[in-house]
Amino acid sequence: LRDKYLGLIADAADEAALEELRVQAVGKKGEVSLQMRELGKMSPEERQVAGPKLNALKDEINSALAAKKAALEDAALDERLRTEWLDVTLPGRPRRAGTIHPISQVSEEVTAIFADMGFSVAEGPQIESDWYNFDALNIPSHHPARAEMDTFYTHREEGDNRPPHVLRTHTSPVQIRAMQAQGAPIRVIAPGRVYRADYDQTHTPMFHQVEGLAIDRDISMANLKWCLEEFVKAFFEVDNVELRFRASHFPFTEPSAEVDIRCSWEGGTLKIGEGDDWLEILGSGMVHPKVLEAGNIDPAEWQGFAFGVGIDRIAMLKYGIPDLRAFFDSDLRWLRHYGFAG
Ligand code: PHE
Repeated sequence: LRDKYLGLIADAADEAALEELRVQAVGKKGEVSLQMRELGKMSPEERQVAGPKLNALKDEINSALAAKKAALEDAALDERLRTEWLDVTLPGRPRRAGTIHPISQVSEEVTAIFADMGFSVAEGPQIESDWYNFDALNIPSHHPARAEMDTFYTHREEGDNRPPHVLRTHTSPVQIRAMQAQGAPIRVIAPGRVYRADYDQTHTPMFHQVEGLAIDRDISMANLKWCLEEFVKAFFEVDNVELRFRASHFPFTEPSAEVDIRCSWEGGTLKIGEGDDWLEILGSGMVHPKVLEAGNIDPAEWQGFAFGVGIDRIAMLKYGIPDLRAFFDSDLRWLRHYGFAG
């Protein structure tokens, strides 16, 4: 029995086989255990000889099992060490970090510059009712400005006579929402996406604006001019800027002005603040009394200015990008070329 089990234990291939042998030999119904049970039938003399022998055999088998188990574990560990290794001296695989899109970056810069001047951020929906996008801004149903805007309308089921919603054509509806929500005095800017059915080198059907609105008891065009000058200096990082206020017309401001900045395009590179060219960057004016009324603000007591800047436009200027459409192509080579992606 001894030779049989010691041999089998030595040859056991794994821990499961070892456990089976343990049960067979020294388990409750194992061969050694059964022989021990026979001791009771023996004479005392016989028992004195056989008893210690069987006990010693049981101990010997148990320690052989334990020794073999330890040996198997060692072998398994050696095998893992041999096959599962890692060369910590290998160079790491480079992983490109994500980056902020230039439009988001510029939008955040603009927000930060106006935040320094006391403006907080307001928001509105991109799918807007035509009341907020037009009527409240003094653009009634048959006003030519509606046709000029190349508006995207949402679909209405046949027989549904409610006016369709629109994809907002500018951020100006946020003026109304902010006035209604906060009342006067108010100083907000509203960056966001806007939509017009237009597509060429300098127009995409989706683009970005930042709306500005400041209402108080005695705000004037002079405050508007100062704010915009401060903004342009900070944004383009130049000390000298020259702004040109061109008389213009928007239904929601009176008087209205479009603002150009002096620049030059010598050799295809843009310089801000010098040269003989003028680049339009925004529309602005004093908020029309009807617009204040739509925002539940009394025009007898309050007045202020508003402006709308094209974010994509000023991003193109700042980074010297000739084609607006490239911003929205998600072409990593282009983004990397301009330093916008890692
Ligand atoms: N909403 C105008 C546009 O999209 C810009 C503007 C905003 C003009 C505020 C005046 C005041 O062109």
